[in-house]
Amino acid sequence: MFIYMFITTNMSAEIVVRSPGRVNLIGDHTDYTGGMVLPMAIDRYTTMAAQPLEAAIQLTSADQPDDLKCELPLVDPAATTPTWGRYVTGVAHQLQVTRGFSGSVSTTLPLGGGLSSSAALELSTALMLCQVNELPPPTSLELAQLCRFAEHLATGVPCGIMDQLTCASGVDGSALLIDCHSLQVSPIEIPHDVNIYVQFIAHRKLSSSAYSDRVIQCDQAEQHIGPLRLAEVSSVHNIADEILRRRAMHLVSENERVRRATVALALQDMTTFGKLMNESHKSLRDDFEVSTNQMDEAVRIAQQTPGVFGARMTGGGFGGCIVIVADSSANVDNLEGAMLVKPVSGAKLIN
Ligand code: GLA
Repeated sequence: MFIYMFITTNMSAEIVVRSPGRVNLIGDHTDYTGGMVLPMAIDRYTTMAAQPLEAAIQLTSADQPDDLKCELPLVDPAATTPTWGRYVTGVAHQLQVTRGFSGSVSTTLPLGGGLSSSAALELSTALMLCQVNELPPPTSLELAQLCRFAEHLATGVPCGIMDQLTCASGVDGSALLIDCHSLQVSPIEIPHDVNIYVQFIAHRKLSSSAYSDRVIQCDQAEQHIGPLRLAEVSSVHNIADEILRRRAMHLVSENERVRRATVALALQDMTTFGKLMNESHKSLRDDFEVSTNQMDEAVRIAQQTPGVFGARMTGGGFGGCIVIVADSSANVDNLEGAMLVKPVSGAKLIN
């Protein structure tokens, strides 16, 4: 009897949280200038199971060789080792909590694959810490903002809010139109006869990529023509510097493509939607220069596959994944490793 009570008490103390990853259908590198994006949370998850622990975090990862062990409160999350633990300690630092947890984490997302495995880890950590510290449950937006700043602090990558907000506020069966200035999230239903695939191309790390350079270049372009989210193509031509002009051209045209793609999706006009995806890839490749030869080649093959409406690189680029939108009857066997993904609801407490 005593043993049974002991086991059930311990079992009930375990907290389980889970966050999906995301894929972006269209609208890349627009979020950090307050532009438009159209991503969706996907049915690949990071799951964390743990019990409360005073003044420390102890976390084992099924996908990493070294465990994370740190004391709370945290002083410098950017100094955490192993480095994967920085996403965890960044969140703990933002929340300024003293009660941590002991447990394990695992994921069905490819790590460093451009499907927001880091945002999913941050969100899971935030939900876990709120739970063990008995904090009021944060809204999706609060959760996303907290985790975005945790990532800035812990990794130095000046990311926008798209990944965290998508993983936090995903809606079953829908993509999310996000205005990254007003932070309004509007679900747009994905037709049932449309399949979405991601094809993994290569691992990448945004911290060692030219991502921050692009953020700086957009800032410089804004010094010439004002906020890029409001700019017209005609004013982009006034930028004398060729590189900055091309960067701005991507931003301004991409915001417009997201708006048009949203209308097309709502009207179930997948031909137009696909064309806009293809144009988006070209713009990211030629004007924003964040694609790679390997991604371009995979996109080219996907675009030529019968039944495929459109294909493009997705996320920050410099590697990662491509996204393919196809008719459900399309045969995609020629697209090596293409993985069917479904739009799902956002991060939550499971138990
Ligand atoms: C990464 C960042 C996002 C966004 C995308 C590009 O995923 O974390 O904030 O900027 O790149 O759209």
